[in-house]
Amino acid sequence: MDSPTIPPTNSDDVPVTEARGRNRVFVWFDRRAGINSLLHEALDEPIPGGARWAYVFGSGLLFVFLSQVITGVFLALYYVPSADHAHTTVAYITKEVTAGAFLRSLHSYGSSAIIVVLLLHIAQTFLYGSYKGRRELLWVAGCVLFALMIGMAFTGYLLPWDQKAYFATAVGTNIASEVPLVGEWLKRLMRGGADMGTLTLSRFFVAHVFMIPAAIFAFVAAHIYLFRKAGAAGPISEDPVSPRQKAERFYPRQVTMDMGFALLLIAALGLFAYFVPAELGPKANPAETQYLPRPEWYYLPVFQWLKYWSGPLAVIGILAIPTVIAVLFVGLPFIDRGLERRPWKRPVAVGAFTLVFLALVLLGALSRRDDRRNPGVAAQLAKQREETEAFMRAPFEPETAGSSLAAANVALADPLAARGKTIFETKSCNACHGDGGVGTPAGAKLIGVGAKLPPDKLEAVLRQPTEKMAAGGMTSVKLKDEEMKALIAYLNSLK
Ligand code: HEC
Repeated sequence: MDSPTIPPTNSDDVPVTEARGRNRVFVWFDRRAGINSLLHEALDEPIPGGARWAYVFGSGLLFVFLSQVITGVFLALYYVPSADHAHTTVAYITKEVTAGAFLRSLHSYGSSAIIVVLLLHIAQTFLYGSYKGRRELLWVAGCVLFALMIGMAFTGYLLPWDQKAYFATAVGTNIASEVPLVGEWLKRLMRGGADMGTLTLSRFFVAHVFMIPAAIFAFVAAHIYLFRKAGAAGPISEDPVSPRQKAERFYPRQVTMDMGFALLLIAALGLFAYFVPAELGPKANPAETQYLPRPEWYYLPVFQWLKYWSGPLAVIGILAIPTVIAVLFVGLPFIDRGLERRPWKRPVAVGAFTLVFLALVLLGALSRRDDRRNPGVAAQLAKQREETEAFMRAPFEPETAGSSLAAANVALADPLAARGKTIFETKSCNACHGDGGVGTPAGAKLIGVGAKLPPDKLEAVLRQPTEKMAAGGMTSVKLKDEEMKALIAYLNSLK
């Protein structure tokens, strides 16, 4: 099984003058950068028992992660993380940018691909007992990466700021508040306040684009380093500490298999992205009360699980049981110390793993079934589906100046009006009057209302709406005096 290899020496002992043509350039670089020994380090890693398709998932993950980084950078060229603009910029990417829908779909399906390949990678290393034999830190680094990837999926989901993103994240952040003692604080930390808005979006954006990726880079480096340090574990019949089977080098056969799998992943992602572009729904409307959020498929089991736990028992289901499972999972190589790797000789570990896996599949399936069985829910979900499809068909609509620049300028010029703007939004006035008071079919344009009604008249109609306002569904505005002043200052600033 021996294959041609790069000599493990550096080329310092070869005179440059003896090398010819391209080789000469190589020797020049190698003397300065040590390319030969780097390549040797990277490609000549011995694999006990030889190359196998079962080992391709780790590098497959690295590959999809790189694809996420690249597509993510391109998306970030257009994206603006604010409640006012996020949705418009994502709609712009989807509907206007050349190949924008394709790019966004690659990124969106990439996150699903990462979860799928991650599960395969975990299943393979678990069933092969590849965590055994001084590989505890390698396993723990992998668990951290798993958690970070889940974090990426969670933070990325909010960014398009459509109905689905907004309401699913509202549920997600609400779950955090179930944690005893620190729950409320945790929820406010994630949201950047009591409610979800621009501060939430910028926190999720910073986590998704800077903080978590930085941690992922660090842990990928640690994971690969620890993997190389421990050496490839090889097949299930192999001794994990001192391998006895004949080894094959990583290059060329395993590299070729890894690349084959990467190609398969590109092809699958490309086909999905091209034929079934990722959807974007209508912009998030916090005032909507009917919306039923449904998470991405890989969160469905968790979503279903949480339904079974409410009231005082919630802590058990939301915190205690997941913590126990997580501790057992992370602590696996510390608990399961035996060197036996054949799955059929490890009934407890493999049985528990299979059970958890089947439970996840079952929970996911039950979640789908619940939605189909409840006619009210099914109808609402169908309506949401239609709204999304209608939005996808509609042409791109740019923002009006009233909602964007003018509104941003208010915050800079007049802090009282800026507070009023927050009140305007938290009281959901924008649900009928539009962002920045541009008006919607449900409520009149408020730009210029200050010129029409002096402050005391304005206050009077807000406290005691006219018949026409009441007929349109506007109720009396109940605010403390100073908040009312701020709101009126904001209404006056809408010009
Ligand atoms: C359910 C929808 C709805 C909501 C929510 C709502 N309004 Fe109204 N509002 C209306 C309607 C309808 C009118 C009457 C429009 C007309 O006169 O044509 C109106 C009128 C007004 C007017 C008078 C406009 C004019 O030109 O005379 C003001 C000021 C106003 N709203 C402010 C607010 C503020 C501030 C809030 C948030 C606290 C709010 N509205 C929330 C529907 C709404």
